Amino acid sequence: MRLNTTAIYPGTFDPITNGHIDLVVRASKLFNKVIVAVAINPTKQPAFDLAQRVALAKTCLGGIDNVEVCGFDGLLVDVATEKKAQVIIRGLRAVSDFEHEFQLAGMNRHMAPHVETLFLTPAEQYSYLSSSLVREVAALGGDVSAFVAPCVEKALQDSQSS
Ligand code: COA
Repeated sequence: MRLNTTAIYPGTFDPITNGHIDLVVRASKLFNKVIVAVAINPTKQPAFDLAQRVALAKTCLGGIDNVEVCGFDGLLVDVATEKKAQVIIRGLRAVSDFEHEFQLAGMNRHMAPHVETLFLTPAEQYSYLSSSLVREVAALGGDVSAFVAPCVEKALQDSQSS
């Protein structure tokens, strides 16, 4: 049974990996609606532009009926409020994620006390996965098919040849 609640799952998704997808699937079973919010995030100088990251996320998640994908600029709490999301979902892969996530959750709570941050853990085989590792392995000719969807694998290959 799903909670009658909208959850927002923010990230840079540069690109979306199977670890992210695993988390979205888990969240989609818990909440009526899950919004995957792809941040512009100029601080990270993403390899894929926002339109590409949104398009890849939409392709990967198109089969889940209660999931919506959008891009955003500005504060996460503003998008959460605008989209009437009561919950922010974040993934915790290892203890090393905790400190940064604790800071984000605290700051977001300060700005928007009505929005709760909830942490989910991905399946074990994705606990060491990150977008930058996937990009690095792909750039060096490694096989990333176990970690990303075929459309993402192709986008990574295309980005090498362009
Ligand atoms: N599976 C695989 N990888 C995962 C993962 C999972 N389940 N969960 C996190 N990651 C990886 C990401 O791929 C990323 O790897 P990378 O750094 O190698 O690219 C890393 O963990 C963390 O990235 P991500 O989840 O994208 O978070 P982020 O720290 O890049 O994004 C935002 C943070 C976008 C949520 C945050 O910056 C934000 O809210 N920005 C909007 C502006 C704002 O409101 N700022 C104030 C915040 S208090």
